Amino acid sequence: MNNEVLKAIADRRSIRAYTGRPVNDEELGALISAATQAPSAVNRQPYHFTFVRDKAVLDEFCQAWRNVSRQLNPDNPPSEDFNVFRGAPCVCFIFCDPLNSWSLVDSGIAVENLALAAHSMGLGSVILGMPKMLFEAAGEAWLQKLDCPAGMRFSVAIGIGTPAAGKDAHPVREGLVTVKG
Ligand SMILES: Cc1cc2nc3c(=O)[nH]c(=O)nc-3n(C[C@H](O)[C@H](O)[C@H](O)COP(=O)(O)O)c2cc1C
Repeated sequence: MNNEVLKAIADRRSIRAYTGRPVNDEELGALISAATQAPSAVNRQPYHFTFVRDKAVLDEFCQAWRNVSRQLNPDNPPSEDFNVFRGAPCVCFIFCDPLNSWSLVDSGIAVENLALAAHSMGLGSVILGMPKMLFEAAGEAWLQKLDCPAGMRFSVAIGIGTPAAGKDAHPVREGLVTVKG
């Protein structure tokens, strides 16, 4: 069976190299629609999306992330130019309510909506868990800088931009699926 949705699911990849082209306002609008149209348990929408295209903010975050990483992993420090956003020119940070037991699942659904929407527009994306280290180390500071609502915590991020390189599909682990009947 094949259709546009199945094709987008099959063709999406984690992109870790981007051209310098910024995500434009029309693309940003479509991404915001895709994120906010995601289903959530009991329609609570227990999250907040902060989209950042400001390079100075992304660079500052990367620098702070590298500093924390060096402190926490002195034996395996990141390289001087390691970019935790993989160079994506637009990053959506998803914050969620830790008191809502479905909020991480809901965040995951929203982030996949963003990944598929980006792919459908000819953009690339990479879902990002690694930024979490800085949020955990920096207390409220970075949460506040990124307009995270009070009480919410980082759940996941996604970098989005124009791909500069492709990637093979990931191998599917054996024994991943059971079908009965
Ligand atoms: C929750 C989650 C967190 C991830 N965090 C990172 C990350 O911090 N950095 C990164 O480069 N890729 C990250 N990835 C991408 C995975 O490595 C990638 O999805 C996986 O290797 C499969 O490759 P594919 O997305 O191209 O199919 C993350 C993916 C998920 C779902």
